Amino acid sequence: MSGVIDNKTIESAMYIKPDKELHDMPGFIEGIRRAPYRNFTLSPQQTETALKNALRYVPEEHHGVVAPEFLDELLNRGRIYGYRYRPPGNIKAKPFDQYRGQCIEGKAIQVMIDNNLDFDVALYPYELVTYGETGKVCQNWMQYRLIKKYLEVLTDQQTLVVESGHPLGLFRSGPEAPRVIITNALMVGSFDNAESWNTAEQMGVANYGQMTAGGWMYIGPQGIVHGTFNTILNAGRKILGISENDDLKGVVFVSSGLGGMSGAQPKAVEIAGGVGIIAEVDASRVETRHSQGWINKVSGDLAEVFRCAEEAAKSKESLSIAYHGNIVDLLDYAVKNRKKIDMLSDQTSCHAAYDGGYCPQGLTFKERTEMLQADREQFRRMVDQSLEKHFYLIKTLAELGTYFFDYGNSFLKAVFDAGVQGVSKNGFDDRDGFIFPSYVEDIMGPELFDYGYGPFRWVCLTGKPEDLKKTDLAAMECINPDRRGQDRDNYVWIRDAEKNKLVVGTQARILYQDAAGRTKIALRFNEMVRKGEVGPIMLGRDHHDVSGTDSPFRETANIKDGSNVMAEMAVQCFAGNAARGMSLVALHNGGGVGIGKAINGGFGMVLDGSERVDKILSCAMPWDVMGGVARRSWARNINSITTSMEYNMENKGKDHITLPYIAADSYVSELVEKAFHRKKS
Ligand SMILES: NC(=O)c1ccc[n+]([C@@H]2O[C@H](COP(=O)([O-])OP(=O)(O)OC[C@H]3O[C@@H](n4cnc5c(N)ncnc54)[C@H](O)[C@@H]3O)[C@@H](O)[C@H]2O)c1
Repeated sequence: MSGVIDNKTIESAMYIKPDKELHDMPGFIEGIRRAPYRNFTLSPQQTETALKNALRYVPEEHHGVVAPEFLDELLNRGRIYGYRYRPPGNIKAKPFDQYRGQCIEGKAIQVMIDNNLDFDVALYPYELVTYGETGKVCQNWMQYRLIKKYLEVLTDQQTLVVESGHPLGLFRSGPEAPRVIITNALMVGSFDNAESWNTAEQMGVANYGQMTAGGWMYIGPQGIVHGTFNTILNAGRKILGISENDDLKGVVFVSSGLGGMSGAQPKAVEIAGGVGIIAEVDASRVETRHSQGWINKVSGDLAEVFRCAEEAAKSKESLSIAYHGNIVDLLDYAVKNRKKIDMLSDQTSCHAAYDGGYCPQGLTFKERTEMLQADREQFRRMVDQSLEKHFYLIKTLAELGTYFFDYGNSFLKAVFDAGVQGVSKNGFDDRDGFIFPSYVEDIMGPELFDYGYGPFRWVCLTGKPEDLKKTDLAAMECINPDRRGQDRDNYVWIRDAEKNKLVVGTQARILYQDAAGRTKIALRFNEMVRKGEVGPIMLGRDHHDVSGTDSPFRETANIKDGSNVMAEMAVQCFAGNAARGMSLVALHNGGGVGIGKAINGGFGMVLDGSERVDKILSCAMPWDVMGGVARRSWARNINSITTSMEYNMENKGKDHITLPYIAADSYVSELVEKAFHRKKS
């Protein structure tokens, strides 16, 4: 080694270090999905740096073997994954007590990481992608191994720092501090764009954590299914005029994607009593959801698809159908044949449209993967053409009475970026939003987030189904179904959760709850752990929540005071959770909408039955929700104002939220109009 210090000396100064031995190259199991080629764009100089960066995890004596492999991965796959360092076979979450560790959090967090990489759960497990086309646990397998080593020795006097997948080290803290703090893809302002990001990721200094992929709290498609159910059910009630006590029977919902999150759509429509047709280009994803029981019927024949859907709708039976093919072909057929679609959305990965997230019409999934490698420019042109056609088909259907909403996948933004100015409200830029609403703007924002209802979740760390059963029951007992309509829906949800067979991967549950509900359930669970009724539990939530995410095209789409371009709520939420002692806290750039378009954060909290945990839950759980409700209230969102008013009354002497005075619309507009008029004249 050149320079002032040799590798032997460096190695002797680390007591936790990358593996000394050279692992055998593990094989790849046939049929497990692989990530497509990611665009390689580095200069020779940058390539050298990228190689040296990855070799930081490898003892010098192995550089001769490993460096050519890393270079090959970079040139031919677009990223260095370090396949040689992947443990062979399937990675599956084990019960927490089968992991090595010095504290329960160290073991619990290993359960979560492994669950995110399970063949049944992850989208591209060999490339560490959990979901969302590019959302990763960490960048490469060397990091995975080193993170696990740190978690094995981590004590309750230390905090592990993880920066874009790289375990920076252990630093002393205390039992009330987080055990792990994660950041992903946080870029300095003027570099916060897709191009700089792509360079940084190739160089091995940035990880796309999406939301719960890099925050290690993903629980399979179940994590999103309750939100999807809430969205389509409430859309039906609000737009189609279905009554509060009724479900979606007879309603036809069409969308696309059977991937990580989108795969929740068929199950959600089914639970809501409706008929769902979901287009998916990738046969393997159709097969995965079908074998998991998340889809009833599969067909590549559009006449058959619509015939079955119409029959089920007519007889008011619930049915989910996977159409193996392109969503644009499906919509083309629907328009030409005048098929009735009540509600329509899209969940292709448009936040990464040119990286393979959107398969253009005219290409099979296989051809899409080949073209990504062979001719990205042509792929880009085809994506743009397809998005344009896709948009005009939606417009035609909307004119015929279909309710279309953007599902937070940046679809409308992608259409705009493809050159279709007509998709924007003002006809020239995207500052005033788009002509179709997003699901948060119309439904999830006002009906759920503004009250504090969001995707609360837990994982039974023993892996025992009976623990999950007991927690389901306990959570149900904590909900008063007569309090609000949302509480009634949530009560029914948890009552039927086991019956609906939602578990994929480890024993986990999703349940939308507000601040009071989450706190009550969390404390009840910790008590159950204390009494030995169940084993330890990991609590958490999706980043896609009330307070966790600032994202003007999604989570904060219904914030209209101009502050939706600010990222302070998400950062405060993260910092506040760390300060109050959540076990794991994460803050990311990007999420489900793309780099530079969102800042999102989440947490994980290990319930060990202790009084220390009771104390943390009592202040951290309300904060994690009410910080966002307070901000939404300050933005003059009416349901948040009333929720904050109640909160102030109920928490006198403990918490207090500043409330906004409301100016009269007519007075303000008259005043401004006169002033502008005076200025002109
Ligand atoms: N489910 C939710 O509540 C939710 C919420 C917010 C955002 N999203 C967004 O939805 C998108 C999808 O998320 P995911 O985790 O499922 O991603 P994913 O990449 O795992 O799945 C997307 C699927 O779409 C398929 N696809 C792509 N183009 C297609 C086409 N033209 N026709 C038919 N199928 C096509 C892909 O093969 C893939 O299986 C992301 O952008 C995500 O951010 C979802």
